[in-house]
Amino acid sequence: MAEQKQESPGVPEKLKENGEMTWQEQVGLSLKTPMGLLGIGLTTICFTMTVLGLLGHMTGLIENHYAAIVTFLVFPSGAVFGLLLIPVSCYFRRKKWFRDNINKGNVTIDFGKKNHRRTVMLFLVLSVVNLAVFSLVIYEAYHFTESDYFCGAICHTVMDPEYTAYQRSPHAKVGCVSCHIGSGAEWYVKAKLSGLRQVKAVLDGSYSTPIPAPVEHLRPAQDTCEACHWPEKFYGKKVKQFVSYTNDDQENPEIQEISLHIGGRNPLTDNFEGIHWHVSGNIKVEYEALNDKRTSIGRVKVTKPSGVTEEYFPGGDESATGEGGKWRTMDCIDCHNRPTHVYEDLEQKVDFGLYSKKINPTIPGIREDSLTVLTKEYASRDEAKEQIVETLLSLQAERNGQDFVAENEATLVSSGAYLLEAYLGNVWPKMNVTWGTYKGHNGHQNEEDGYGCFRCHDDEHQTSFGKTIPQNCDLCHDEP
Ligand code: HEC
Ligand code: HEC
Ligand code: HEC
Ligand code: HEC
Ligand code: HEC
Repeated sequence: MAEQKQESPGVPEKLKENGEMTWQEQVGLSLKTPMGLLGIGLTTICFTMTVLGLLGHMTGLIENHYAAIVTFLVFPSGAVFGLLLIPVSCYFRRKKWFRDNINKGNVTIDFGKKNHRRTVMLFLVLSVVNLAVFSLVIYEAYHFTESDYFCGAICHTVMDPEYTAYQRSPHAKVGCVSCHIGSGAEWYVKAKLSGLRQVKAVLDGSYSTPIPAPVEHLRPAQDTCEACHWPEKFYGKKVKQFVSYTNDDQENPEIQEISLHIGGRNPLTDNFEGIHWHVSGNIKVEYEALNDKRTSIGRVKVTKPSGVTEEYFPGGDESATGEGGKWRTMDCIDCHNRPTHVYEDLEQKVDFGLYSKKINPTIPGIREDSLTVLTKEYASRDEAKEQIVETLLSLQAERNGQDFVAENEATLVSSGAYLLEAYLGNVWPKMNVTWGTYKGHNGHQNEEDGYGCFRCHDDEHQTSFGKTIPQNCDLCHDEP
């Protein structure tokens, strides 16, 4: 006996004597290996923490988002890992026992025995509890990883520009996922896979700055925008007002009002017309993008409801089109490319300050100085916070003298505060995001950079019959 014990020290005394031992005693014993104990410990701790965390989140006691990561991702993973360790440790221990020739009959479940029944019941009850808790965790984790907070703020530095611009847009209450990710399991997996790649990029710093605009990865506009806005719904005109000043006249704005032909279905002819004609009815407008930003457009093809197609060539030259352009069907994003990540225009922002008197327009030279202050390069947002007001004061001191600055300090400081706010809403030096980094296509303010309607409406895209995509000023808007 003593010899046997040496051969297999793991086999309990009792088992050796009569070969009898209840199976749950055996399971119990097989747990008592270092691996088994680790599994039990890990599971118990992680499971308890998960349950506490879940309760905290569901009752609203815990609102911290980092706690959510731990509750929904870290602790449950720990619990599952621990649970897996237990059968693994049992497997190894029992394998050893079988090698030592114990009677296999001893390790079967016998429902005739009361203690066997009790243990099986316990196992079932624990499993149901486990399942319930894990389903809750998965449900909550799913929602958490779909939340705007998760998308917008977890990778704080990287997403800060988009998240900031988003929060002040008309879509601030529309979830990131409703534009960027489709619904359903397929999109979920797709998004989480690319999410993992992005997490890796954040960890090793290999992400691009600025982050490129992802048109090709966006869901098709029919699935996103059109869930809330549909072309049938557009009608009439939309009046927009543009206020601008010049450095020479900071007090009398030039106010331009235009009335945009939003379009829609004309009740008389039943045809679609106006600006939303491109995306309405059965019209299909396709174009050949000659670069990634789609700021240079080759051929344009229009397919009418009757099936008739018209093709426009740049400069009317049918042979001049470059090879390798990417064809794309025009949708909402081709005009509304910044529906929610709306960065402001530098001059418009300063002029709005003057108009709303947040920048005091009676201070000589303040428009020019404001533009200088905002376009100056600061190493970081923190540095901007320290320097913006100071910079404005010193520019003003140069221009109007130290006495003037001393007399008007309060109003200069509050104008400076407006500029700082403007800066913080639009510039992220670390991400290389600054004024004009992301430009919009919905108009023609940035036409010299190839943005906007005039990419096509240049009077130069022509069909073989000489018909052009027109640029006449009253096609898209007139005076209200
Ligand atoms: C109303 C729809 C919509 C919502 C909501 C939305 N996005 Fe976007 N997002 C877009 C579009 C459209 C683009 C492409 C812009 C372009 O092509 O110029 C984009 C681009 C981006 C980019 C690429 C960089 C850039 O600015 O072009 C990032 C990053 C991004 N979104 C993150 C987010 C995050 C994070 C949220 C939620 C906090 C969010 N988005 C919510 C429509 C949306
Ligand atoms: C979940 C619903 C929803 C989705 C999806 C959505 N929008 Fe909107 N959108 C709204 C609401 C609500 C408003 C009105 C906000 C307001 O009146 O201030 C709005 C307003 C707008 C406006 C007018 C903005 C303004 O300044 O008046 C435009 C343009 C617009 N959306 C375009 C889009 C585009 C393009 C997409 C797809 C990329 C999109 N929307 C996706 C709900 C949505
Ligand atoms: C050819 C360019 C173009 C396309 C394509 C386009 N829009 Fe517009 N849309 C405009 C312009 C221009 C305006 C008016 C200016 C503004 O509101 O900023 C406008 C206005 C809007 C408005 C505000 C309407 C109002 O009455 O205030 C919504 C909402 C909108 N578009 C949604 C969409 C959706 C959804 C799609 C895709 C189905 C789409 N647009 C496609 C150019 C376009
Ligand atoms: C990809 C090329 C392309 C872009 C970009 C584009 N358009 Fe067009 N647009 C066309 C074509 C092609 C026509 C049809 C010309 C024709 O048949 O007379 C057209 C026609 C129109 C019409 C007349 C529709 C009607 O029949 O009533 C309006 C209005 C219009 N566009 C406004 C805009 C506005 C506003 C923008 C920018 C926000 C814009 N377009 C951007 C290609 C484009
Ligand atoms: C293809 C359509 C289209 C044509 C053609 C067009 N515009 Fe516009 N225009 C727009 C749109 C869309 C906006 C609104 C931009 C916005 O909402 O920010 C606009 C805005 C403007 C503004 C106010 C914003 C600014 O840039 O100061 C002026 C001024 C203007 N247009 C002048 C003209 C003149 C002059 C012509 C004739 C050469 C013309 N437009 C032709 C679509 C057009």
